[in-house]
Amino acid sequence: MRSRSPSPSPLVTERDDLFLDNGSRVAVIGGGPAGSLFSYFLFEMAERIGMELAVDIYEPRDFAKTGPQGCNMCGGIISESLVQLLATEGINLPSTVVQRGIDSYVLHMDVGTVRIEPTRREKRIAAVHRGAGPRGVVEPRWDSFDAHLLELAKGRGAQIHQERVEGIDRDGGKPRITTKRGTSPGYDLLVGSVGVNTGALKLFEEMGAGYRAPGTTKTYICELLLGERTIKTYFGNAMHMFLLNLPRLEFAALIPKGDYVTMVMLGTGIDKSLVDAFFSAPEVRKCFPADWSPPADSCHCSPAINISAAVKPFADRMVLIGDSGVSRLYKDGIGGAYRTAKAAARTAVFEGVAEENFRKGYLPVCRSLSMDNRIGKIVFGITSLIQKTTVLRKGLLRMTAAEQESRQRNPRMSDVLWDTFTGSAPYSDVFRRSLHPVFLGRLLYETLMGVLPAGREGGKKEDKVPFGKMGELGKIYNSGEIIVRQGDVGECMYFIQSGKVEVIRESDGKDVKLAELGQGEFFGEMALFEKGVRSATVRPLGEVRVLSVDKRLFLRKIHEDPALAFRIMQKMSRRIRELDKELGDLR
Ligand code: CMP
Repeated sequence: MRSRSPSPSPLVTERDDLFLDNGSRVAVIGGGPAGSLFSYFLFEMAERIGMELAVDIYEPRDFAKTGPQGCNMCGGIISESLVQLLATEGINLPSTVVQRGIDSYVLHMDVGTVRIEPTRREKRIAAVHRGAGPRGVVEPRWDSFDAHLLELAKGRGAQIHQERVEGIDRDGGKPRITTKRGTSPGYDLLVGSVGVNTGALKLFEEMGAGYRAPGTTKTYICELLLGERTIKTYFGNAMHMFLLNLPRLEFAALIPKGDYVTMVMLGTGIDKSLVDAFFSAPEVRKCFPADWSPPADSCHCSPAINISAAVKPFADRMVLIGDSGVSRLYKDGIGGAYRTAKAAARTAVFEGVAEENFRKGYLPVCRSLSMDNRIGKIVFGITSLIQKTTVLRKGLLRMTAAEQESRQRNPRMSDVLWDTFTGSAPYSDVFRRSLHPVFLGRLLYETLMGVLPAGREGGKKEDKVPFGKMGELGKIYNSGEIIVRQGDVGECMYFIQSGKVEVIRESDGKDVKLAELGQGEFFGEMALFEKGVRSATVRPLGEVRVLSVDKRLFLRKIHEDPALAFRIMQKMSRRIRELDKELGDLR
């Protein structure tokens, strides 16, 4: 047994050999978002307690390759909440990775079309390609999202092995890995982040530790080459959702990217006839140029997606994360990867790597995702009912259109649809809000008005011309504008994506410059922590692009995961130290 480092983690394990220590070796099978984020957080947390680890990531694919060889088969949407959480963690998505910043959703139904814009008109959803782009791309212009995260993990110290794992076994309790090159020595921890589209899950099931892979269903994804100009004209920066009354189709989406539009269909037994029926629907046809027809040879796949959680995704020295453990139902799969990866890393570093540690530290996060998915099934059941009932579809459309037209402060239907389609809030939250008497009363009223002959026509808001550069998230401010005004109530904080700002304190009619902040820094956090007003004014110095993080999301996530605030506290502590020094110098 190894002796423990002088700065040990606070252990809870009953067997004192089942913890990570200085020099411990960790194997991560699968270098997608779950594996990369796990490694990233593992290094970060270990560093906080002065522990040095060695992490090997096994990933046979090269995400820098185009087509199936580099792809991770997914619609490629990074949800609004995940974009904000990653920014809070210090992970910003560059415009080389973000193919399009999404600022709105257009909902298409047979009874009409409505655009839903969030109250904060800002691009906080990222459309990305998981690999370097679909089959047929000659010169990739964008970087792969998965490659970007893997690089972050590599930057922290992970070793990448471009090898397929063919076997897993244990040597004296420590998991070993077999690839074509041979068998590794025992690892202190083995992490499975292989998704649900691989035979590697069998290897974990055969370990005999009780693991059973998650239940899945098939989806259909297809890449349509339309070119930047056509996409800008026809799709803008909006994600297009379809609630059509087509048998077997649950819902479908068109996601504009750089040169491609990704089409995602969810339903049962999606086959060629259903895909053809979708493309022939008038609501879909009007999204494309009149002379366009779906190409016969476009890059497409039918990957499995999770519909239920894995059984016992952990054992001594072993944990399964991301889709291999539990995912969010239909939406925000990468958000599920983030949550499970972080919870597993936190458990491994601060608690231990025994089965009991994962049961106490990791299982609750999986359970909370599973519970929420159960409510998600009810939410999608209601959506299905609306899809099949014309009067309800009309009522929903009328209510949403009325809210969007009047730019209501509390647009209940728009918020419920936004959060259901973007996966930005837990399903339990969406469900609770949709049971509110005002929501139900309004829906009933609009449904009845739609049935009565004199009823107002459902909204048909047209797409607006998109703003800003397509691959950039956040919002642009220019000199002369004010981002944050001293004395105002603060509802969000900001992360600078590009450019600079100045922080000014107004006192006795005079402006005192407190600081200049640049790319990667943040401001506006004080009002969130103190429940107070803005302590200073923040103005752009030239063009600046900032991404906001909502107070509600930020505070809710900190309750779930206090470590989220660590980076911010570190920075605030540094600011106090600098101020103390200046005060000392003045005296
Ligand atoms: P908040 O008070 O919400 O809004 C104004 C912001 O200015 C504040 O949060 C901080 O983010 C920032 N700020 C205030 N004082 C300083 C300082 N001395 N150095 C850097 N930033 C500051």
